[in-house]
Amino acid sequence: MSVVIAGGHGRVALTVSRLLAVRGERVSAVIRRPEQAGAVRDAGARPLVADLATASTEDLTAFLTGARAVLYAAGAGLGVAPGQPDPVDHDAIVTFADAAEHAGVRRFVMLSAMGADPAARYRENPLVETFLQARGRADENLLARSALATTVIRPAWFRDRPGTGMVHLAERTGVGDIAREDVAAVLATLLSTDLPAHASSNSSPAPPRSTKPSRGTARPGARPRGEFRSPARAAALREPRDQGSSRSSAARARQLRT
Ligand SMILES: NC(=O)c1ccc[n+]([C@@H]2O[C@H](COP(=O)([O-])OP(=O)(O)OC[C@H]3O[C@@H](n4cnc5c(N)ncnc54)[C@H](OP(=O)(O)O)[C@@H]3O)[C@@H](O)[C@H]2O)c1
Repeated sequence: MSVVIAGGHGRVALTVSRLLAVRGERVSAVIRRPEQAGAVRDAGARPLVADLATASTEDLTAFLTGARAVLYAAGAGLGVAPGQPDPVDHDAIVTFADAAEHAGVRRFVMLSAMGADPAARYRENPLVETFLQARGRADENLLARSALATTVIRPAWFRDRPGTGMVHLAERTGVGDIAREDVAAVLATLLSTDLPAHASSNSSPAPPRSTKPSRGTARPGARPRGEFRSPARAAALREPRDQGSSRSSAARARQLRT
């Protein structure tokens, strides 16, 4: 059994591959440029070549068959035109989720973005608005699937600086930024953590203990931040509130390093 990462040559994705490989996980990484295969192998992953924007459900199902968990970490930046999201920010996510279901993969971790919302408004930059709306619709599609045990992570702005190992996750956090290394550490931990599938989490809403860092927002000096959605938290999200920083950062850091 293995983990498959869509967008496997991304900066976050490569770090996730390294973290999982060190833990002994078998990782495969979907990339669209064969010349990126070497870097993917160096990170400890097996490259699989496909353009997510055009790959069929059948193509991707073949990649995902036998996987234990999947991570969607691809993204196209902010796109080219208002109102026209890049396929990789919506349609490809739906196709990847369809493939996961067909392949019998249950655990789905989604790297989304803070502010993702089908009704997002961002007048300062219509491209951002298009991106956030597309991601919001994709997130909702994923969370509505009862066959998948999905966790959606919505980090704030990424920064290329060393990770702190202290990440404060909350249903609502306020804006901020976060080191890509810290985002990768959260994703790697989630990929190693099972969740009840949507249907069962409705009947048993408490998430497993190991996913409880879903509350709080990271904040050592640099105040890394991110949001979290899982089926188990969906009801609470209807009444968003900042969960504050009551959890011990040190405890969270220890958890991320395990
Ligand atoms: N930047 C931020 O502040 C921020 C904040 C929150 C969330 N996010 C989300 O997190 C994602 C990952 O971040 P990152 O820093 O790791 O981004 P990144 O380094 O730009 O990686 C994105 C990866 O997606 C791949 N990709 C794009 N379109 C694809 C396609 N059609 N088929 C296959 N692969 C495709 C890219 O491949 P190529 O190398 O071939 O282009 C690239 O390797 C972002 O894309 C964004 O959606 C970003």
